[in-house]
Amino acid sequence: MKIGLLGLGTIGSGIYEHLKARDDIEVVKILELLRHPGLEHLETSDFNEILSDPEIDTVVELIGGMEPAHTFTVQALKAGKNVVSANKLMLSHHMEEILTLARDMGVQYRYDASVGGSIPFLYNLMRYRGADTLTGICGIVNGTTNLILDVMQREGRAFDDVLAEAQKLGYAEANPSADVDGVDAMCKLCIASAVAYQKYVRPEDIATEGIRHIRAGDIIFFGQMNKVCRLLVNSALNTDGSIRAYVEPTLVPNDSTEAAVHMNNNTISVTGEYCGTHTFQGQGAGKHPTAFAVELGLRDILDGVSPRLNPIPEGNADVDNRQARHAYYLRTAAHPGVPVRKLSDTEGGAAYVTEPMSVADMHALAAQLREKDPRLFFAGVREKE
Ligand code: HSE
Repeated sequence: MKIGLLGLGTIGSGIYEHLKARDDIEVVKILELLRHPGLEHLETSDFNEILSDPEIDTVVELIGGMEPAHTFTVQALKAGKNVVSANKLMLSHHMEEILTLARDMGVQYRYDASVGGSIPFLYNLMRYRGADTLTGICGIVNGTTNLILDVMQREGRAFDDVLAEAQKLGYAEANPSADVDGVDAMCKLCIASAVAYQKYVRPEDIATEGIRHIRAGDIIFFGQMNKVCRLLVNSALNTDGSIRAYVEPTLVPNDSTEAAVHMNNNTISVTGEYCGTHTFQGQGAGKHPTAFAVELGLRDILDGVSPRLNPIPEGNADVDNRQARHAYYLRTAAHPGVPVRKLSDTEGGAAYVTEPMSVADMHALAAQLREKDPRLFFAGVREKE
């Protein structure tokens, strides 16, 4: 297998290192703006050199972001090349187009690395789908925010300090607001939900809240409630066939599965009518774990693993978050305007716990309260099961 590698950043340099030790997969060209000592003979800044090279059968897209990743992927597939990628932002916005094009061209688009880093979650989700009706996905899919929340609570370190560490370790996105505002997790939930339910859950329909405004004072309340905060993705089939889909900080009991997920690790559960609930855990971000997942995609192509594993979503999901209800922790300087129990005054206003309310109502309320208090923080409260 001859590879054209797009991007030599954190994951790109990881896959290059891994493949140097193989004799059946070879990187023959690298698209890079910068030059790296010893690699100049492979490097080009012109994508057409990769596109027009008949020796290259597979493109590994690790430049990330929307453009030019989308254009290069479409061109590579149209040129009859397989594409392997970890690009959750691009895929979540162009899933039907990319998967349909790959199918029509008789090539593969493999995106195992786009959700859960090294964890073989998507691959198994694809396999389960034919044999079961999948009814729910829940978990931690962003390593950067998990590191921040975990280290803030266990070590009392400051948000910006831990975020800088996540950037240094190569976990954070180029623009880390994608991590801290929940957008990265939302893109991953979109992809996983499309695979699970065979309907496209549009990114803009997923209620998304990140952790940007969490403060040390909030974490003191979480400790008093015997809970820890995790950024969770959730999607599930509602009884009427619509889908609930949301990303939000969630206070989970100290002894829950999610509370035991530390550092950059991820945990993702899938529930099906026949299989029950299966939980996958492992390293969800970083150079070597993600490069490992990219190589799994390459090896699947090499081994002839069927592209039928790549289901194309059939139309858009009807998303309805009014049917998901729970209590919320809310810290704000504004008047909450809904039934609440006040915990205490604190820096940044007062902390409250709301009565159970729908996810749709809470996200709408937060948008409204933000006009008065842009730095409010809220988190779902999960009681012991
Ligand atoms: N920024 C992402 C994360 C990288 O922290 O999980 C892995 O997708």
